[in-house]
Amino acid sequence: MRHQPILLIGNWKMNPESLKKAAALFEAEIRALARLFSEAREIGGVPEKRLKVVICPPFPYLFSLNEIRSRLRISEDLLALGAQDVFYEAQGAYTGEVSPLMLKDLGVEYVLIGHSERRRILKETDELINKKLHATLQAGLAPVFLVGDETSPAYHGSLISEQAEQERELLRISKQIQKGLKGINAASVQKIIFGYEPVWAISSFSGGKSAESSYAQSMVARLKQEVLSKLYDIDIVEKLLFIYGGSVDTSNIQSFLAEKNLHGVLPGSASLRPEELSGMAEIILQGNF
Ligand code: PGA
Repeated sequence: MRHQPILLIGNWKMNPESLKKAAALFEAEIRALARLFSEAREIGGVPEKRLKVVICPPFPYLFSLNEIRSRLRISEDLLALGAQDVFYEAQGAYTGEVSPLMLKDLGVEYVLIGHSERRRILKETDELINKKLHATLQAGLAPVFLVGDETSPAYHGSLISEQAEQERELLRISKQIQKGLKGINAASVQKIIFGYEPVWAISSFSGGKSAESSYAQSMVARLKQEVLSKLYDIDIVEKLLFIYGGSVDTSNIQSFLAEKNLHGVLPGSASLRPEELSGMAEIILQGNF
């Protein structure tokens, strides 16, 4: 049994296409979750000890969704808001950017940083990601630092076990971690949630085929042992929280959470379907992870 609530972080990406649809989706998700939480309480459970749901909508919806959350009186301990990106300055002449303080003011608690889609499509560098991590920590928000750099279809299926491929992959992710964490001290690194997402397992790439949970577990174990333990004391590294992302849904969430190095999941497309999101929440609340 874990000491921390399991994180279920929904990344809506650039969806849905209107505020009206976003509000309806969010309300449907809250209602489904609230039902689960009250059922858990009726049988003497304390859902906030087992699960924390975080929804990361596009920026323009944050204000309204925060209002909906207050209106429906769902506790922030059970359902928090996250942003999908952030800029590293507090304010000023940075056209188009959004600062950590602005997010905080809107009720945001978590920020995704370094998603592979931003690294790949928007050419975000490790240096930029490092600045965003520093600024987010300084503002008192929780960064979800995403790493993963495997795009080649050669990593699929049985080829995944090929030692040479896996070593190259590990080396690239090591660089993302080392450069991303530059200047982040031991006290701060413990506030970061690490997200491991093999790019080929993300549904827009894979058509919904996730990584094997054992593979995710072994990569996270190696990142801790071979990369993070060179940067921080081992007792700190052992406590760092890792989540997995890439085609997570109700059919496979159980296998990821059964792995001891994983403290949560980051579903994208499944988080846009209220029955899937609440189904995953139900599995977490009922499971003995
Ligand atoms: P997916 O997205 O669950 O649709 O694969 C995950 C992500 O990219 O964060």
